[in-house]
Amino acid sequence: MKNLQVNGERLWDTIMETAKFGGTEKGGVCRLTLSDTDRQVRDWLARECESAGCTVSIDEMGSIFARRPGKVDTLPPIAIGSHLDTQPTGGKFDGIAGVLSGLEVLRTLNEAGHTTSAPLELIDWTNEEGSRFTPPMLASGVFSGVFEHDFAYASEDRDGKKFEAELARIGYRGERKCPDHKLGAYFELHIEQGPVLEKEGILIGAVTGMQGQKWYEITVTGQDAHAGTTPMPARHDAMVACARMVESIQAIALNHAPLAVATVGHVVVKPNSRNVVPGSVFFTVDLRHPDEDVLLQIDRELREMVDATARDSGVEARLVNNWNVTPMEFDRECINHVRSAAEKLGYSHRDIISGAGHDAVYVARVAPTGMIFIPCENGISHNELENTKPEFIAAGASVLLHAILACDEARNKTTR
Ligand code: GLV
Ligand code: MN
Ligand code: MN
Repeated sequence: MKNLQVNGERLWDTIMETAKFGGTEKGGVCRLTLSDTDRQVRDWLARECESAGCTVSIDEMGSIFARRPGKVDTLPPIAIGSHLDTQPTGGKFDGIAGVLSGLEVLRTLNEAGHTTSAPLELIDWTNEEGSRFTPPMLASGVFSGVFEHDFAYASEDRDGKKFEAELARIGYRGERKCPDHKLGAYFELHIEQGPVLEKEGILIGAVTGMQGQKWYEITVTGQDAHAGTTPMPARHDAMVACARMVESIQAIALNHAPLAVATVGHVVVKPNSRNVVPGSVFFTVDLRHPDEDVLLQIDRELREMVDATARDSGVEARLVNNWNVTPMEFDRECINHVRSAAEKLGYSHRDIISGAGHDAVYVARVAPTGMIFIPCENGISHNELENTKPEFIAAGASVLLHAILACDEARNKTTR
């Protein structure tokens, strides 16, 4: 097993094959969670996993579990996972590289005729992106006890369609309870989605943890009014107030540079008519920082700014903080398995903190967890142009393979 490597060409071809489900003209992927294209890629994955000798099952959150038997089948499985859903203008690799590297690890082990002591489990988590249904990492969150089952089922998309109904519609409201089993360990490979590895010419990131994150929904209420007859001083323009807030949000983040990042990514203006002064604006804020104290300080500044801007603009504003993740650290042994695997295979590596959210963050609450990052082109992600190189994914997947084998060996020693 010492120098076993995955088949990089097969892995790349597999990624390109799945990119057809929801493929866009610009070469990206639009595969919103629980859409028809999500069903297609799930059906494809289930078939491939069965062909690789796995038993496939679905839990009540729609997550897919493909189990490869171990020598000691009573041991909790060592899991590999990520997600196959994408942003509306997503790329071919975010999440997908992780699931398909896991599949490639299983295929490679099959060819090598190697059976691990613990069973292996490949997981496709439902709704990692949080683009269609809020919050993100919904299924891994229920699996890890962060969210209630009913809370997840009640989540609605912008058209009022419920998560539960959409699961049933695509045939993925599974029988298995969520959760109904423990994981012995969990590993996730992901493109970095940032510029660090590429800039430094390093192949593998051993992810040590993730920065904290807060989501807000802000509703600004003014007054609908005639665009031709309402004098400027008499207006209660919700859009103008929103624009001032967006500027200030950027200023607050810049004030905590270089680590703070804040994004207003979704705005709904009402009535959205060109000759009506907007009476209402709804917008979202995504705020992140690796230090919880700074995150809380920014939270205070944000709330004060929203109140003051609303007052000065003659409108009302309501801020709801609807999702939080505190900064976290991954399991030391799992991080070491990743570092050692990269070392053994002769790949350059460095420790790195994740700027993006991942299912691994929630799974880390219930199982020892580690993550592997690989470089992506110009650090671009959540974009149809997202790209990486076949040799980067192959290297990452081989690191994944050896991290799993080392973890299996270490756990086998301690459980004997
Ligand atoms: C996940 O896609 C994130 O927004 O970090
Ligand atoms: Mn992702
Ligand atoms: Mn993403």
